[in-house]
Amino acid sequence: MELLTLIGLIVVVYFAVYVLLLPIIDCDLGLWYADNFGRRLDEFKGKVVWITGASSGIGEFLAVEMAKHGAKLVLTARSVLNLERVKGRCLEAGSTIEDILLLPCDITDTTKHEEMFARVITHFGKLNILVNNAGRSQRAVWETIEPEVDRDLFNLNVFSVVSLSRLAVKYFQKVGKGHLVATSSIAGVIGAPFSGSQNFDS
Ligand SMILES: NC(=O)c1ccc[n+]([C@@H]2O[C@H](COP(=O)([O-])OP(=O)(O)OC[C@H]3O[C@@H](n4cnc5c(N)ncnc54)[C@H](OP(=O)(O)O)[C@@H]3O)[C@@H](O)[C@H]2O)c1
Repeated sequence: MELLTLIGLIVVVYFAVYVLLLPIIDCDLGLWYADNFGRRLDEFKGKVVWITGASSGIGEFLAVEMAKHGAKLVLTARSVLNLERVKGRCLEAGSTIEDILLLPCDITDTTKHEEMFARVITHFGKLNILVNNAGRSQRAVWETIEPEVDRDLFNLNVFSVVSLSRLAVKYFQKVGKGHLVATSSIAGVIGAPFSGSQNFDS
């Protein structure tokens, strides 16, 4: 069998299995596999996880899930009120007061990143995982967007992530291990209409 035929066959079989499994799984195959056969969430017990954009949505959900599994949490966003609410949910989920550090800030102010990073290390003595989740999307007819709007979007979705990740990578290299996570978007894979700037920065 020719190599290309074989590759084509594998792709067809993959999608056939995918379609057949759709009625019984509620996510893609990779996630389903990880859920059932991947590493267990208990492995997060005692790990220090810093989640940016933790005051709502995906970041909030992640914080509560991590709390259920015993992680120590650093929660960042601008809204102190919402961070306090998320902290309350984490405490209900099993965290203790000592397990949670609220680090409110505007993440686009990269001049504060070193100081914030130092606070995390001073408080918990280590960082295991940085989750770059703070971000937003934007809808507009691309050619009408003011440059300032593009700049704001890139400062949040790109440059703040690069700045904080760079500090984390230097620290992870020093201690010999660590993980970087970034919440991305399908817009980075398939261009979405009226999301021109977001398609670039995803
Ligand atoms: N939900 C989706 O369908 C989807 C799809 C593709 C990609 N994403 C990406 O997934 C991530 C989370 O999205 P989400 O749906 O959970 O949105 P969300 O509920 O609006 O959460 C965004 C988070 O980012 C924080 N944030 C925004 N600007 C910030 C700033 N300047 N400094 C610090 N924190 C800031 C917000 O908190 P404050 O306002 O309190 O600062 C909030 O906690 C984003 O990066 C988003 O682009 C989401």
